[in-house]
Amino acid sequence: MRVSDKVVVVTGGASGIGAALARRFSREGAFGVVVADRDVEGARDTASEIARAGGRALAVGADVTVEADVQAVVATAVDTFGPVDLMCSNAGVLRAGGADAPDQDWADSWAVNVMAHVYAARAVLPSMLERGDGYLLHTCSAAGLLTSPGAAPYAVTKHAGVALAEWLALSHAGHGIKVSALCPQGVRTPMLVGGLEHDDVGALVVAASGNVLEPDDVADAVIAGLDAERFLILPHPEVAEFERRRAQDHDRWLAGMRRLVATTSERLR
Ligand SMILES: NC(=O)c1ccc[n+]([C@@H]2O[C@H](COP(=O)([O-])OP(=O)(O)OC[C@H]3O[C@@H](n4cnc5c(N)ncnc54)[C@H](O)[C@@H]3O)[C@@H](O)[C@H]2O)c1
Repeated sequence: MRVSDKVVVVTGGASGIGAALARRFSREGAFGVVVADRDVEGARDTASEIARAGGRALAVGADVTVEADVQAVVATAVDTFGPVDLMCSNAGVLRAGGADAPDQDWADSWAVNVMAHVYAARAVLPSMLERGDGYLLHTCSAAGLLTSPGAAPYAVTKHAGVALAEWLALSHAGHGIKVSALCPQGVRTPMLVGGLEHDDVGALVVAASGNVLEPDDVADAVIAGLDAERFLILPHPEVAEFERRRAQDHDRWLAGMRRLVATTSERLR
């Protein structure tokens, strides 16, 4: 899919990867971009930046864990620009901890990293299926293909996010619906930088596993991935090799991950 002339919605568009995607979609000639986020001020900043650069954008305040909000975002997009061609469900949260993480952290992770993608699909699929055309882009994570040391709620819900995208891709391919799962490793956004500043083992392992990309680099990979209509969009190509090793010999891969976590934790002492 070429983004040119398309109507696009980006959730989590106030910051980081979502803001970079919204700006880039507009530069690629999108007809209109709706920037949705619970951080309304941030969403307005992104939309204003797009407008200053000559694009058409609208900011909408929305909590993506509330289905009515997601439906309202899509209704606003349709009223303002027309039917949504590309629904980019990108908002995400990172909650640390293991099985002992508070239930609220598990619930928040499930709500944002999984159910918000379900709500996004529900909001746009009926119209897309009717038109026989449409694209769902879900920002998941390399954590959804591999794991996320120190953050079980993140790893588990990102795996569920990839599984959902895969299911949608499989089930709707015959109806003109394209689906991509964006699975970056480390990207320099408030989500990762916060972890690095607090010497969080998970963030440090991510930084040790490959380049920390800029959000604009991720946007480049997304444009190429959409163009090729590739299911997995991997801004860090090495993730494909990590995934292959994990599938080939799970125990060996786990042993390697344990060593990486141990050496990272050791360095912190
Ligand atoms: N930064 C990384 O290293 C990295 C790596 C892999 C995947 N990701 C994923 O990329 C996506 C974007 O994250 P980012 O790194 O740009 O982080 P970020 O914190 O800069 O941006 C996340 C945005 O999502 C919004 N958001 C969170 N919960 C929301 C809710 N309930 N309703 C509406 N908006 C909500 C936040 O307000 C924020 O603007 C996330 O899904 C994240 O898991 C990030």
